[in-house]
Amino acid sequence: MNEKAKLIKMIEDRTAKVGIIGLGYVGLPLAIHFGASGFRVLGFDLDSDKIDKLLKGKSYIKHVPIEPVTGMIREKRFDATTDFGRLKEADCILICVPTPLTDKMEPDLTYLLQTTETIGARLRKGQLVILESTTYPGTTEEMLLPRLRDGGMAAGSDFFLAYSPEREDPGNKTFSASNTPKVIGGVTPACLEVAQALYNCITRAVPVSSARAAEMVKILENTYRSVNIALVNELKVLAHKMGIDIFEVINAAATKPFGFSPFYPGPGLGGHCIPIDPFYLSWKAREYDFSTRFIHLAGEINVSMPAYVVEKTAEALNRGRKSVNGSRILVLGVAYKKDVDDERESPSYVIMKMLLERGAEVSYNDPWIPRLRPTRKHDFRMQSTPLTPETLAKADAVIIVTDHSAYDFADIVNNARLVIDTRNATQGITGAGDKIVMA
Ligand SMILES: NC(=O)c1ccc[n+]([C@@H]2O[C@H](COP(=O)([O-])OP(=O)(O)OC[C@H]3O[C@@H](n4cnc5c(N)ncnc54)[C@H](O)[C@@H]3O)[C@@H](O)[C@H]2O)c1
Repeated sequence: MNEKAKLIKMIEDRTAKVGIIGLGYVGLPLAIHFGASGFRVLGFDLDSDKIDKLLKGKSYIKHVPIEPVTGMIREKRFDATTDFGRLKEADCILICVPTPLTDKMEPDLTYLLQTTETIGARLRKGQLVILESTTYPGTTEEMLLPRLRDGGMAAGSDFFLAYSPEREDPGNKTFSASNTPKVIGGVTPACLEVAQALYNCITRAVPVSSARAAEMVKILENTYRSVNIALVNELKVLAHKMGIDIFEVINAAATKPFGFSPFYPGPGLGGHCIPIDPFYLSWKAREYDFSTRFIHLAGEINVSMPAYVVEKTAEALNRGRKSVNGSRILVLGVAYKKDVDDERESPSYVIMKMLLERGAEVSYNDPWIPRLRPTRKHDFRMQSTPLTPETLAKADAVIIVTDHSAYDFADIVNNARLVIDTRNATQGITGAGDKIVMA
């Protein structure tokens, strides 16, 4: 039996072991899904703290319940390690490491390069490698393939290589890896066949003609979101000037059963995907002497949103004869979206930084993020302020940046002196007069 047939059989009868490199927001849920489908799973991460926590049955991601992992550990179907020498044990290796941007907004492939070299040095016959991290079209073929076949093995017969973009939506209670189709592109038809066999075990696999096409699919999805969010953000600013409620407009437009998908404005983009991924494509486009104008315009508009929120706050304070300088401002929500503990690229950081620069006394509350750790861009060392009627009343302005479900917005409006609402969280609250300002 050839390597392809052997591996497909092992996948189908669940004797194949799935190795997952990078056990973060993407890798950990994926490990759980493969475990739930009957596979043995071996997780790898550089962060020994994460590995220790997992093996002790503790989750480090609040919205990901740990019980499935503890169950798999009991059944001896899950292990996690920092020892990359154990990569040989895995029959299928999924790469879920970060792909951020550098300060110059260029792809930072350091993590991916390191991982590829680690795999390349240990690759054995019959292994399948799938890149899940978001990246520009061409990465799998141009960066991974040459490094993996360095030892003389051939892709498609000795080992298998594919790209399959991750569509994890943290905190989404309706869609997870088990009911979200998975796009897959192989570097050869045999690579696609093996990768498809694996993903068909956890969801519906959607094959495309190449790894490059699969890479482009992910960037299209996220660029589509970025551009549409920018569009409604721009229209929000105009609607405010015209005295029109943009949320009312979007919700009414969304009743059209065809040709319109609603996107909602906000305080700016956050998270590890939408603010970053489109710029992977614009970087690659330069190689083709091509300018991705929509991506740049959308980026420009979305990036300007935190400043708009600060400006609206300043105007509202000014109407009450107050300046930002010296005002006590409470920011509600640092997570980039509701009900998750992920604050990467959060617009809250930018808003807080701008307010501090203008002399405000800034505090924050976030039930999901009890303290702020230094990030690559910001160095806030703050603890979440308890949300009490007193802390609300003491603030000159309260800015709703994240509309966590745990917040009682009626209570917030009732106790606060001035509320800046960037999420339409106060919709339906009546009798507040001009205490609520939409931003
Ligand atoms: N977070 C999301 O919602 C989401 C959704 C879709 C796609 N993605 C993409 O998935 C990828 C991973 O994102 P994430 O949010 O899970 O990141 P994350 O930071 O939560 O997790 C990445 C993990 O990889 C580990 N790591 C870094 N370098 C490593 C190495 N060389 N070897 C082993 N482990 C290493 C880190 O310690 C961390 O635990 C990115 O490309 C991202 O764009 C993320």
